[in-house]
Amino acid sequence: MLLGPPGAGKGTQADKLAATLGIPKIATGDVLRAALRDGTPRGREAKAFMERGDLVPDSVIFGILRDVMSSPVAAKGAILDGAVRTVPQAKELGIMLAELGRGVDNVLLFDIPDDKLTQRLSGRTVCEKCQTPHKGLEPGSKCEKCGGPLMRRKDDAPEAIRNRLKVYRAQTEPVIDWYEERDFKVEKVDADGPVDEVTRRAVKALKQ
Ligand code: AP5
Repeated sequence: MLLGPPGAGKGTQADKLAATLGIPKIATGDVLRAALRDGTPRGREAKAFMERGDLVPDSVIFGILRDVMSSPVAAKGAILDGAVRTVPQAKELGIMLAELGRGVDNVLLFDIPDDKLTQRLSGRTVCEKCQTPHKGLEPGSKCEKCGGPLMRRKDDAPEAIRNRLKVYRAQTEPVIDWYEERDFKVEKVDADGPVDEVTRRAVKALKQ
């Protein structure tokens, strides 16, 4: 499970770790954006919350987690990117996994100063098709992974970034304590540095 503030590089590192470990990445943000793009009821429910930088209601996330955890895609395990952002979500995921005879093996917390986050998010573009995040490329450029068009996320506007950081402190940071109080070792990974170096740190933290 990957935790960390918006822009810490969870999505970037989830892709790298998924390739290294040979298991899929499951990012609730990506699932929600795909639902929004396809105009599904789940996407319509999530839209306003996401654009403001608020969390979507726990009930929506429970539905997504239930779908993914019971799907063959996650049969060998998965990298959960941003999938748990409130204590009720952490509890519910624990119950779902226990019912399936599984559990959370590792919790990695990507750590980086706030000023770097804002800098990263305001310069980010993402692929409309495969959702890969990019830096240093303008909207309208082509995705380096799949050739799809790059766009700016609405929640990367300055006001939404400020709100996302506030929401992270208030609602997601307590999840770290929740896991630690239950004897999960939350491994802190210094997320400030070149992408490959951060991947090396994350893999080292997993081995510990
Ligand atoms: P989500 O898409 O998960 O957004 P987030 O958590 O705010 O995280 P980000 O995707 O913004 O950042 P990241 O840490 O993945 O960084 P990235 O790798 O892109 O969720 C969006 C919304 O969906 C939420 O706000 C909420 O509304 C809703 N949602 C999702 N899950 C939910 C849940 N469980 N409960 C309730 N609501 C939920 O990197 C950022 C930029 O930095 C990129 O440009 C990248 O290229 C660059 N970068 C990455 N690493 C480095 C590096 N080492 N050095 C320099 N640049 C780097």
